[in-house]
Amino acid sequence: MKTLRNVNDTLLWVGGNDHRLALFENAYPLTNGVSYNSYLSLDEKTVLLDTVDPAVEAVFLENVEAGLAGRKLDYLIVSHMEPDHAGTLATVCKKYPEATIIVNQKTTLMISQFFGDEFKDRYQIVKEGDTLTTGEKTFTFMMAPMVHWPEVMVCYEESSKTLFSADAFGTFGAISGFLFADEVDFARDWAGEARRYYANIVGKYGAPVQTLLKKASKFDIACICPLHGPIWRKDIAWFVDKYQKWSTYTPEDDAVLVAYASVYGNTKLVAEMMANDLRNAGAKDVRVYDVSNTHVSELISESFRVSKIALLSATYNAGIFPAMENFLHDFKAHSVQNRTIALVENGSWALSAGKQMNELLTSMKGISVLPNILSIKSTIQESQYEELTALATALWEA
Ligand code: FEO
Repeated sequence: MKTLRNVNDTLLWVGGNDHRLALFENAYPLTNGVSYNSYLSLDEKTVLLDTVDPAVEAVFLENVEAGLAGRKLDYLIVSHMEPDHAGTLATVCKKYPEATIIVNQKTTLMISQFFGDEFKDRYQIVKEGDTLTTGEKTFTFMMAPMVHWPEVMVCYEESSKTLFSADAFGTFGAISGFLFADEVDFARDWAGEARRYYANIVGKYGAPVQTLLKKASKFDIACICPLHGPIWRKDIAWFVDKYQKWSTYTPEDDAVLVAYASVYGNTKLVAEMMANDLRNAGAKDVRVYDVSNTHVSELISESFRVSKIALLSATYNAGIFPAMENFLHDFKAHSVQNRTIALVENGSWALSAGKQMNELLTSMKGISVLPNILSIKSTIQESQYEELTALATALWEA
C-alpha cells in the first residue's frame, strides 16, 4: 500500500490524501478532500520535507519507507508546526532516530508545546538565509512568519529551482491520480478552491504574504511544492499574480457580491431586484448569495474576488440577522479591504440592522460604505424602486 509519486528523479511526493474529512480545521467544508503533501529528497543525504496529518499517517509512513528503499533518513525539515503537517512529527522522529531535525528557533517552542523536548538534542537550528547542502542539492531557508503561523519557514532548492512553500500556494482538494497543476484545468476547476483556501487560511495575513513574495522573487523559481494541493511547474506567474492580488486585497474581478439575510423572502426579493439594477447599470458579473445557505468561507472567498458588495439584512433580535452578523465578523477577522459596500435593511418595526452593519463596517480599514442605507419596512414599496435603483447604480459606479 503505497502512493508515492515522482516530482522528478530525485524528489518524491510521499504525502497522503484525505477524502473523508468533512471540515478542514473543523471549520471549512471540503467537497473534494484535501492533500497533505510531504516530499522526500534523494541526494547523497536524504531529506524529508514535513510530515502529514495523522489521518493519512499509515500511507505516508509506507511512502517514506518505499522512497528511502533501505536508506536511512538523514534530515527532517519542519516548515510548519500546524498538526496537519506536523501531527506525525513525533512518529517520524522515533522511526528514524538518526535524522537531524531542521527547525528555526520559534519551531522549537512549538515542538515543545505539542510533543515535549524528547527530540531537542537532534535539532539543527536555522535562521534566515542559512543553507543545507546534501550533495548536489542546496536548500536555502527563508522565514515566513504568519504565512500562516509565526514559526513558518520555506526553503528554496537551488539545483532544481524548487520553492518548498509551506501553506503558501496551497489549495483545498485532494490530488489523487495527478500531481501537477498543469495536469488539470486549474483556472477552471481549481481556482475557486485555491481562493477559498487562501482567503480563509492566510487571507488575514496579507502583509506577511507580501514579504514572502518579495523574498521569493529574488530566486529563479521553476517549481513550487506547497503543503496542500498540486505542484506548480508551469504557469507559475499566473498563480503568483493571484497571490499578489489577494495579499494586497486587490479585487480580482470588477464584480458584485450581493449577500442577503432574509426571514420570509422579502429581503431576498430586494436582493434580486438589486441584482437586476446592477446588471442594468452595466455590471457584467453579479452573484447573489443567501447567507443562511452559503458557508461563510464561500462568502469570504467571494469577498476577495469582487470589487463591490451589497449587503441586505433583516433586523433580528433588534440587531443584524445572525448569519449576516457572523459573515461580517468573519469579514473583519480576515481583514478584507479596498471594497465599496451598499447596505439595505429590512424590519417590520424598530429597524436597526443597517445602522449596526454600518458601525461594524466603518470600523474596518479600507472599507467604504455608501452613505444612503435603504430601509425597507416588511416589503419594498413601489415608491422605493427608484431609491433602490439609485443605490445599485451608485454602488456600480463607485
Ligand atoms: Fe496547512 Fe497552516 O497548515
